Amino acid sequence: MVVHLLTNATVLNGAGSFQDKVITIHSLGAVLPLIEWVFIFLPILFHAIFGFVIIAGGLPNTNSYPYVSNIRYTLQRATGIIAFLFIMWHVFHLHGWIHADWWITRIYDLNGAQFKPYNAATSASLALQPIIFAILYAVGVLACVFHLANGVWTMGITWGVWVSPRAQRVASHVCTVFGVGLAVVGLSALVGMRNMASTEDSLREAREAENTAVQTAIDLGKITDDPHKQLSEEELESHLKSNDSDQSSETSAAPQH
Ligand code: HEM
Repeated sequence: MVVHLLTNATVLNGAGSFQDKVITIHSLGAVLPLIEWVFIFLPILFHAIFGFVIIAGGLPNTNSYPYVSNIRYTLQRATGIIAFLFIMWHVFHLHGWIHADWWITRIYDLNGAQFKPYNAATSASLALQPIIFAILYAVGVLACVFHLANGVWTMGITWGVWVSPRAQRVASHVCTVFGVGLAVVGLSALVGMRNMASTEDSLREAREAENTAVQTAIDLGKITDDPHKQLSEEELESHLKSNDSDQSSETSAAPQH
């Protein structure tokens, strides 16, 4: 998650910078789905299933004992549920869960698989334009960050890494600084990504930078040409047209969903 949010935040250096990172990831080629499943999806699913088992066995009692640690105990469980729902939706929304053509083409109109790796920032930005999506992403990012930062602290207690009250206090401060820092990175990435499509000019400029980076990588043999991974001119036009017909977002190049 730390690597993911930092990578997303490179969009603040421009669309070309984020595109370079995505090219590096996609240069893994056919091995990429295997890496995603072994190191990302299966561990998250394992953690989610195990987490729901833990939640089922828990007894929240914050009404009777409103101590900070007790509130953190309940928040850890609440953010775990929000994080799970957010990640399921987020991976459907941008990635599409599985990359079979028959599936991707069906879910695209249902707001799934919106991310086009060869036009990384522009496609992500268009997908994030509806204000309700931006709000849900902010809630999801904050829930994930709290769950991680507080989870590391409680893990240290469970595993006997910080045992004395003083060590636990110091660890709590360190985890708080880590969490606040990661929240800033995540929310900056969200705002930076969204702003890419704030005007048609900025969107087209970003798309140019992406196309140049992708063409260079193809020429160097780092990635293979694949029109499915690009945001086509027709797709872009349809986003812009649907935006024109929406009175409420005159200055935005956003798609309407
Ligand atoms: C600033 C907010 C975020 C943005 C802009 C963002 C962006 C993206 C994008 C563009 C993808 C698609 C990558 C691809 O298909 O190649 C993706 C996938 C994914 N994201 Fe996020 N993300 C954000 C927050 C989060 C958070 C908080 C988590 C929590 C763990 C998360 C977990 C994932 C996972 C598991 C995937 C699928 C893995 C993969 O595609 O390799 N994301 N995200």
